[in-house]
Amino acid sequence: MIDQAFRRLFDSDPEVVVRAPGRVNLIGEHTDYNEGFVLPAAIDRYVWFAGRRRQDRTVRAHSIDFADAVEFSLDRIEKDAAHSWSNYLRGVTKLLEGNGRRLAGADLVFGGDVPREAGLSSSAAVEVGAAVFWQRLLGLDLAAVDTVKLARRSENEFVGVPSGIMDQFVSALGRRGHALFLDCRDLKYRHVPLAAEAAIVVCNSGVRRALAQSEYELRVRQCQSAVEQLRSTGLEVESLRDVKLGDLITRGKKLDPLLLKRASHIVTENDRVREAVRVLEQGDLKFFGRLMNASHKSLRDDYEVSSKELDALVELAWQQPGVLGARMTGAGFGGCTVNLVEQAAADSFVQAVQEGYERALGLKAEVYVCRPSDGALTAVES
Ligand code: GLA
Repeated sequence: MIDQAFRRLFDSDPEVVVRAPGRVNLIGEHTDYNEGFVLPAAIDRYVWFAGRRRQDRTVRAHSIDFADAVEFSLDRIEKDAAHSWSNYLRGVTKLLEGNGRRLAGADLVFGGDVPREAGLSSSAAVEVGAAVFWQRLLGLDLAAVDTVKLARRSENEFVGVPSGIMDQFVSALGRRGHALFLDCRDLKYRHVPLAAEAAIVVCNSGVRRALAQSEYELRVRQCQSAVEQLRSTGLEVESLRDVKLGDLITRGKKLDPLLLKRASHIVTENDRVREAVRVLEQGDLKFFGRLMNASHKSLRDDYEVSSKELDALVELAWQQPGVLGARMTGAGFGGCTVNLVEQAAADSFVQAVQEGYERALGLKAEVYVCRPSDGALTAVES
């Protein structure tokens, strides 16, 4: 598909085709920028890139999804508000071009089937895809983790979203049939097998709140403030990652009540992720599901990033037979829920949730049954 699009647009064969997947996070939400733990999986929905090298320093890029094109010079890469879809490519290109490296121009096209604005990391897939595309096209030699860091820096510094490292990490290094357990402090990770007897069903609420970015930024700041307040009580911590539940119990009275709620989510969520990995490795999907449910409640009540629509989808899911666990996934404020459902019950689950959602809120939920998949760099790494 993508190579055909390239031929149609540029009248020649692409030299390089790469793909980077979106992701769903199973548990460990808003913990990444607190140096904590996450357990996402790459999914079988991708952003594809196809392209060829040029002899000059021009980049001509087409987006299939936006049916739009831009042209820019490697000598002057700036944000483009009129074609904001291109900023994910521009940022990565600019960071690769710096650092004493000199790229060559390229003709390229990208697009895919990761739903946008749904909390499934389509932007991280573009960033990772772009980084891997340039490396393959020009034979650059970056370590996998450096590629991930560069893609994240592009999101933080060029696009301007202070996100953590989870999305880019799993888009690059997820593994088929596995979730990825990542320590966001030292970036050590391991792949944890996901039993095939459970389906990963993602339900898209179809709603994205306008405040999503400012609320995300506010949560990042609140976590920093919580750390500062805890420090002023004499607790020696670098980040919420270092805080124990007992610390919150003994020092909670000295914290602003709202910050205490935010910190409680992060501290309990980190505990849940470690527990989730332990029980998953023992094959206890029921226990794993209960931890997902608890994560949702904590995100809803303490971190306050859920929404009416997400809560409705999760509550509907909890009522269905064969459901092991259900929660909102990603940053929140709209987007998707993730549901772990016994395979045999998956079809009736999808039907019941879609019907119930429409009945309750008059909205249609798109549903994606996802398979845990390889990241853009996984084949190279393993
Ligand atoms: C977004 C960010 C991630 C992470 C999640 C919440 O997806 O990009 O870094 O913070 O939200 O867990």
